Amino acid sequence: MIRSAVTGIGRALPERVMVNKEFEELVATSDEWIVQRTGIKQRHIAGDGETTASLGEEAARNALKSAGRTPADIDMIILATSTPDNTFPATAVNIQNRLGMTHGAAFDVQAVCTGFIYALTTADLYIRGGMARRILVIGAETFSRLLDWEDRTTCVLFGDGAGAVVLEAAEGVGLTSDTGILAAKLRSDGAHCDKLYVDGGPSTTGTVGHLRMQGREVFKHAVGMITDVIEDSFSMAGITSDQIDWFVPHQANRRIIDASARKLGISEDKVVVTVDQHGNTSAASVPLALSVAAGDGRIKKGDLVLLEAMGGGFTWGAVLLRW
Ligand code: ACO
Repeated sequence: MIRSAVTGIGRALPERVMVNKEFEELVATSDEWIVQRTGIKQRHIAGDGETTASLGEEAARNALKSAGRTPADIDMIILATSTPDNTFPATAVNIQNRLGMTHGAAFDVQAVCTGFIYALTTADLYIRGGMARRILVIGAETFSRLLDWEDRTTCVLFGDGAGAVVLEAAEGVGLTSDTGILAAKLRSDGAHCDKLYVDGGPSTTGTVGHLRMQGREVFKHAVGMITDVIEDSFSMAGITSDQIDWFVPHQANRRIIDASARKLGISEDKVVVTVDQHGNTSAASVPLALSVAAGDGRIKKGDLVLLEAMGGGFTWGAVLLRW
C-alpha cells in the first residue's frame, strides 16, 4: 500500500510584529483583554511587497530545503488560502511560477481555517491514488488585508504567515511501514455560513469585503466539532488519545485549544501552542505550529501527531500521522 509522509517542513512570517498594546490606539481594547480571552500576545502583519504568494513561496522553499528536494522534484502544488493574491488565477500557480516550475499542476483549496487539513488530505489521496509522488502542500494567508480595523471583536484575533510541507509517497524514502498519514476526516456544514464570513466577493458585491464573525457562536460550536472529528479519525486508525505524542491544533484561541485537549484527555505538555506569537493565521496556522515544533526538536521521527482545524463554513477536520 502506498502511504504519504511529510519529508520536509518550512515556514515564513512577515517581518512586522504587532503587539497587543498597539491595538489600544486603534480600538477600545487592552492587552489584558486580548490575552485573557484569546491567549494572543502578538501577530505578524504583512507589509508592502509581502503577499500570500511571497509568504507561500518562502515557506515552500524552506520546506523543499528541509526535504532535500528542489522544485524539479515536485509534481503538484496545493495551496490552502482564503486570501488569494487575485480572484484568479489561483495563487498556487503564482507560487509555481515563482519557484520556476513549468511542469506539474497547481491549484488552491479554500476551506478557511481548515484549509491546510483539506489540502493535506487531498494531497494524501493524490499520492495514495498513484497520481502524484511529491506534493508541496502550503497554507498561506494575509488575513490582515480582510480585517475591519475598526472592529475590535475581530481585528485583534488574526495574523499573517505561511507554512508548507513536502508530502511524498512513503515507499522508497527510507520510511517505516507505518510512517505517514494514518487517517484523515473532513467535515463541513454550510448551515453555519453566516457565523464567520467575508461580506464581499466577485459575484455579489464586486468588492473584496471584510471579515465578519459571531465570535460567541463560533466558540460555542468549536470544541464539540473539533473533538468529534478527532474521535472519528482515532477510530479510523485504531488509535486512542493516550497514544498521541503531539497535538497540533488550529491556533485560533487558547481557550478553544485547552478545552479541546481537556475533552480528549490529552495532557497540556503534548499540546503545541503558537497562538500567543502568531495569532490566528487561518490556513497557515497548523503548518506554522507544526514547523515550530518540528524545528525546535519536540516532534521527532516516529512520533504520532494529531492535526485539527475548524473555521468558516463551518468546515472542520483532523489528520493523524506518524512523523
Ligand atoms: N477588547 C475589549 N472588549 C471586547 C473586544 C476587544 N477586542 N472584543 C469584544 N469585546 C467586548 C464585547 O463588545 C462585549 O462587550 P459587551 O459585553 O459590552 O457587549 C464583551 O467584550 C464580551 O464579548 P463576547 O463576544 O461575549 O466575548 P467572548 O468572551 O466570547 O470573547 C472572542 C470573544 C475572543 C471572539 C471569543 O468569542 C472567541 O474566541 N470566539 C471564537 C472565535 C474564533 O476564534 N474565531 C476565529 C476564527 S474561527 C476559528 O478559527 C475556530
